[in-house]
Amino acid sequence: MSIHIYKNPDALAGGLARWIASDISLVLKSEKRYSFVLSGGSTPKRLYEVLASQYHNQIDWEKVDFFFGDERYVPFDDDRNNGKMAYKELLIPLKIPAENVYRMNTEVTLAEGVKQYDQKLRNYFEKDKTHSFDFTLLGLGSNAHTLSLFPNSDIVFNSTDWVTIGENKEDGTQRITLMPALVNASRNIIFLFQGQEKADTFKEVLNEPFNPKKYPAQVIISQSGQLMWFTDEAAGSKVFEK
Ligand code: 6PG
Repeated sequence: MSIHIYKNPDALAGGLARWIASDISLVLKSEKRYSFVLSGGSTPKRLYEVLASQYHNQIDWEKVDFFFGDERYVPFDDDRNNGKMAYKELLIPLKIPAENVYRMNTEVTLAEGVKQYDQKLRNYFEKDKTHSFDFTLLGLGSNAHTLSLFPNSDIVFNSTDWVTIGENKEDGTQRITLMPALVNASRNIIFLFQGQEKADTFKEVLNEPFNPKKYPAQVIISQSGQLMWFTDEAAGSKVFEK
């Protein structure tokens, strides 16, 4: 595990974009495709803008397949839809072909959306004989949630499903979410988060005893050993405190 702390959100987005560009180039030297799980929430917006503007010509984007870590159960054109932001800031500017974007379908029932995404993933990994993603980008909520694994939710103990229904009890939103059974097998996993409001959360997630109902992000344990935390000085200000 490694922690990467940048001065401010712009430096953070630039540093992570550099890491992503070098990892995609490295993997594509020996693999035909690169599988990239996009995070939801608002923090990745700056990163997506940097990738789309500064790395438009530096990466073989047509060899990158995009997935989503989770999706709010709202229509695609709803501003809360994670896919909508990713399309606007990253996928459309980079002209990513529709067949290379594996969206979570929120136009059907939740159960059907979960079933469809699970099948999409099994078809994808079966085809390439790999068993998980090259890179999974995750966010971190100030309540220590990640993906759509929220505090006091029993799904944090689900160690078999690849995809399931999540719920944020604080606002009642229902979601489709990837699960640790698949995410933890990613070649690389990076948490991206920033801001003073996440400083206590980051310190607790890393230092408090394992308690996933209180700190869901603790269930993210890289099986390949490559788990990284990319943040700014504001959110990283307490993690090394005794
Ligand atoms: C979501 C996200 C969620 C997000 C965190 C951080 O759909 O809400 O997947 O896990 O990454 O809530 O969100 P911010 O980056 O907006 O703080």
